[in-house]
Amino acid sequence: QTSYITLDSGFKNTGCTKSAITFLDGEQGLLNYRGYAIEDLAEKSTFIEVAYLLIYGNLPTQAETDNFKLQISKHTLLHEDMKKFYDAFPPKAHPMGQLCSLVSSLSAFSPESLNPNPSKEDIDLGIIKLIAKMPTIVSWIYKGSLGEPFIYPKSKLDYVENFMNMTFGQVTEEIGIDPVVVDALDKLLILHADHEQNCSTSTVRIVGSSGCNLPASISAGISALWGPLHGGANQAVIEMLELIKNDGGDTEKWINKAKDKNDPFLLMGFGHRVYKNFDPRANIIKKACDKILDKLGINDPILEIAKKLEDAALNDPYFVERKLYPNVDFYSGIIYRALGFPTDMFTVLFALGRLPGWIAQWKEMRENKEPIGRPRQVYVGEVNKHFVAIADRV
Ligand code: SDX
Repeated sequence: QTSYITLDSGFKNTGCTKSAITFLDGEQGLLNYRGYAIEDLAEKSTFIEVAYLLIYGNLPTQAETDNFKLQISKHTLLHEDMKKFYDAFPPKAHPMGQLCSLVSSLSAFSPESLNPNPSKEDIDLGIIKLIAKMPTIVSWIYKGSLGEPFIYPKSKLDYVENFMNMTFGQVTEEIGIDPVVVDALDKLLILHADHEQNCSTSTVRIVGSSGCNLPASISAGISALWGPLHGGANQAVIEMLELIKNDGGDTEKWINKAKDKNDPFLLMGFGHRVYKNFDPRANIIKKACDKILDKLGINDPILEIAKKLEDAALNDPYFVERKLYPNVDFYSGIIYRALGFPTDMFTVLFALGRLPGWIAQWKEMRENKEPIGRPRQVYVGEVNKHFVAIADRV
């Protein structure tokens, strides 16, 4: 039978590929993109440089950066027919459901993406188009939810500035875009850019391993990210903190609920499959939280609830024994909120940041000519059943 199969639910101890893109050390709390420490990249680089690094393997020179930006600026527009998809969604359609559909629809407007044996040029063009169009797709989802007119991309603006302009239309002669806001979002996008074989990235790889086109493979990753145990946690954290605040801020009560095996409530934003000491991204975001809210003159009461909850959990044996620490999603939503985004847009912002990582991993899988992903199972069902005609079934 299949006695040689080793069952590993959730792939907790299974390496599914070899990769040279991102390195995690869960015990040390290390995260490197192509060998560069996340702390250095978050502090000294930009999201566009990091996207280039992940996808092409090296930090770009100034000339490479300028050309990358120029290529992107040529492809930020969506085909006008894509507006019909936005019109078709009901007003309260979740942004992640819209994003899955809209990204997958890109292949309908880019025939080269469906070439079963794409040339290097086809692949490179498909990558540039996806990187370029994602901010437009995302900002128009937000504008659509408000019933406001779409704002078109402006090629003279940098990547994050252009996204903020299309989303909030903040670029006017008088006020311009607040550089604090642009820098904060750029840092968050860097911190979300890749994370080795997490649920959504593994999904992108396995879908791409069937020969499926890049937009549809990425759309599959967006679906996986939507789940509250994965990227959807950043929305669930804010909803949890709001719940605790409105319930009088009794963090002990909610910590006890999270420990109660008969209660489905989990402390959202806590725990991680790999990090068993701390999530380096959470540390960076927590520090940035105070600074950004202070610079923007925002006093958000749920930040205090978050800190109180973190302190209580980090001193509770249940969480300490299970090595449960705040992850990337615990504080990120507080910054997104301070930047003016509604809660249901948070996971879409995670996807915007994760896009270069998904692309890099899909590209590496294809370049390495990896076989189609097809895991086995341990069968525990019945065998040798006698067929009974429907007339004789009771
Ligand atoms: C992301 O993989 C990645 O890299 C993901 C990510 C990325 O960048 O791509 O880092 C992004 O998805 C971060 C995680 C966001 N999700 C959440 O914050 C949701 C809450 N966290 C949990 O659902 C959980 O911690 C996971 C999903 C993150 C990890 O789950 P595991 O590794 O399968 O661990 P587990 O569920 O087996 O938990 C081990 C124990 C269990 O208790 P016991 O059975 O040992 O008694 O810890 C408990 C769990 O019940 N536990 C929690 C908990 N997380 C785990 N108890 C209360 N609250 C929690 N949040």
